[in-house]
This record gives sequence, structure tokens and C-alpha cells, in this order.
Amino acid sequence: MTQPVNVTVTGAAGQIGYALLFRIASGQMLGPDTPVKLRLLEIPQGVKAAEGTAMELDDCAFPLLAGIDIFDDPTAGFSGANVALLVGARPRGAGMERGDLLEANGGIFGPQGAAINAGAADDVRVLVVGNPANTNALIASAHAPDVPADRFTAMTRLDHNRALSQLAQKTQTPVSDIANLTIWGNHSATQYPDIFHATLAGKPAAEVVNDQDWLENTFIPTVAKRGAAIIDARGASSAASAANAAVDHVHDWVAGTPDTSWTSAAIPSDGSYGVPEGIISSFPVRSTGGAWEIVQGLDINDFSRGKIDASVNELVEERDAVKGLGLI
Ligand code: NAI
Repeated sequence: MTQPVNVTVTGAAGQIGYALLFRIASGQMLGPDTPVKLRLLEIPQGVKAAEGTAMELDDCAFPLLAGIDIFDDPTAGFSGANVALLVGARPRGAGMERGDLLEANGGIFGPQGAAINAGAADDVRVLVVGNPANTNALIASAHAPDVPADRFTAMTRLDHNRALSQLAQKTQTPVSDIANLTIWGNHSATQYPDIFHATLAGKPAAEVVNDQDWLENTFIPTVAKRGAAIIDARGASSAASAANAAVDHVHDWVAGTPDTSWTSAAIPSDGSYGVPEGIISSFPVRSTGGAWEIVQGLDINDFSRGKIDASVNELVEERDAVKGLGLI
């Protein structure tokens, strides 16, 4: 039997954790031939609820689930991890300034990065979901000097999937016919969903849409503010769709993207498209199985340039703020 892959999930007792763990255990993330061992990492107050989730996982009798362990200590939780999904984070509380939020999360993602450095498997791949995801990933990476920086990524796949769905509905095109859409920048309201290289059944999407007003005043704000709209409607933040995006991200990273389309992920910049090196920014990416590569050579029009720069500037400010706080 193939050796099980160790998957550590932080925030395992939270709402994304609850939607995510069953998908992983069923084989949807790593494929039908790969057994998984789940390592659930929580804070002490979350352990009992994680034990309940583990009981339900047992009760599914998933053939691929080779074991479940629960931890409240990051060093133990990340020991031997091949895949690490960093979901648990400190939410913004009432009256909390951005600096407070970054500092509180630095207190989580710094030690988690150090724990990954200390004991994760050599091939560890990290996806940060917990917000502010891009900068939390940067903090974790800075505390893991022995792990290649490109193993630390942040999730913009939910934004990508939201954009796909909005474009499909506007143009009455099946999602499966849409290719090469891109989310650029930060997983925040400044993100830029870019349809200028996208195609709809092979036709240029921007030409099919032919509606700059819709693009600027409906599409972009709908995608960028979808999280808030879901909180407003559901009374709770996106959970199943966030879990689904995490499954998609890791699946494509490990198994590779299809030849027909790239996807979006926040990965460390190599300076491509004028994004300062080292910033963890969303790009058009492909994976040939195991490593993300930024899609090169795209023409960026003036409209896109302005939007990308605005989001990247926000990431630079976040990086400078965490540097100023001594978190990286
Ligand atoms: P939740 O509040 O339901 O669950 C969070 C869980 O994390 C809790 O069980 C808590 O005990 C645990 N936790 C907190 N600190 C921890 C630590 N240091 N170690 C281990 N576990 C810890 O939150 P939910 O809805 O599951 O969301 C989790 C995060 O994902 C939030 O930061 C949210 O903003 C973010 N998110 C990101 C999205 C993205 O597209 N990147 C989309 C949706 C949510």
C-alpha cells in the first residue's frame, strides 16, 4: 500500500475545518490512490470539538483515512507533515487596528512557521487560509529558513472560483469552458480579478463581455466583496466554498494544472510583473506537479496595471508593517 501522506490542518474545529476534513479524508484533495493521516491542530479550547469531528470522520469509514491525531502543540502537530493547511487564525475583533491584527496573527504564524521548520517532512507544502492570508504566509515562511520559500503559499483560489462563476453567469457559459482567468495581488478587497487573458470556449472573454461598466462596477466589486456578502446573508463567513478552494489549490499543486488553463494562487514573487520579490502575491500560475510556476509573458493593459499595483502596494504595506513589528 502507498505510504500515507500526513496532512496537518490547523483550526480543525472551526467551520472551514469541519467542511474541509471530510473532503481530504475522502480522497478529493490528494486523489483516490493516496491514503492520508490527518493531524488536527487546535488551541486547547478547541480540542474537545476537534475530538467530536474526529469521531465523525471515524464514522464515515473512509477507506483512505489511515489515522487521525489531535494536537494543541504546533511542534507536535506539524511533525512529519507533508501538507500543512493553516486555517486557524485570529479574526479582527471590534476596534482592532490593522497593526493589532497583524501582531495577533504574527503570534500564531511565527511559531507555526518555526514548528514546520523544526519537524515537517522535507517535501512539506503549506497553504495558508487564515486571514490576512498572504501576510500570514510571509510570516510563517520567515520563521522557516530551512524550508524553500516557494513551499509557502496563500489561498486566492476561492476568489478565482468566485470570478469563474460570476463570468459564467454573465456570459451563460459553462464554467468548464472558461480558461485563463487570473486573480492578482492580495486576498482582500483590493484583489484584482482579471478577465483580459481569459477565454470563453476559446473566444477572448473581454470581447464577449464587451461591457467595461459591468467589469468595473459589478464584476470586480462582486468578486472582491463576496466574503462580506456571504457573511451578510448567512450570518457566518464562507466555509464550504473556502474548504473547496483549499482542496482545489492543493490538488492542482500536487497533481498539476490541466493543459487547458492556468489558475490563481498567492506564491512568493520572483519579481515577475513588477511585483517586488518575496511578496506573497496572487499570480496566474501553473503546476506541472509539485511546484507552482508563474505564467510569463502576459501583456498587462493600463487598467490592469493600476489595479495590480494597488493590491500589490497593500501587500508591500503589510510586509513593511510586520517588519516594523519585528514579525519577519
Ligand atoms: P472559525 O472561527 O470557525 O475557526 C477557526 C478555528 O481556528 C477555531 O476552531 C480556533 O479554535 C482555531 N484556532 C485559532 N487559533 C489557532 C491556533 N493558533 N492554532 C490552531 N487552531 C487555532 O473560522 P473559519 O470560518 O474556519 O475561518 C478560518 C480562517 O479562514 C479565518 O481567518 C478566515 O478569515 C479565513 N478565511 C479565508 C478565506 C480565503 O479565501 N483565504 C476564505 C474564508 C475564510
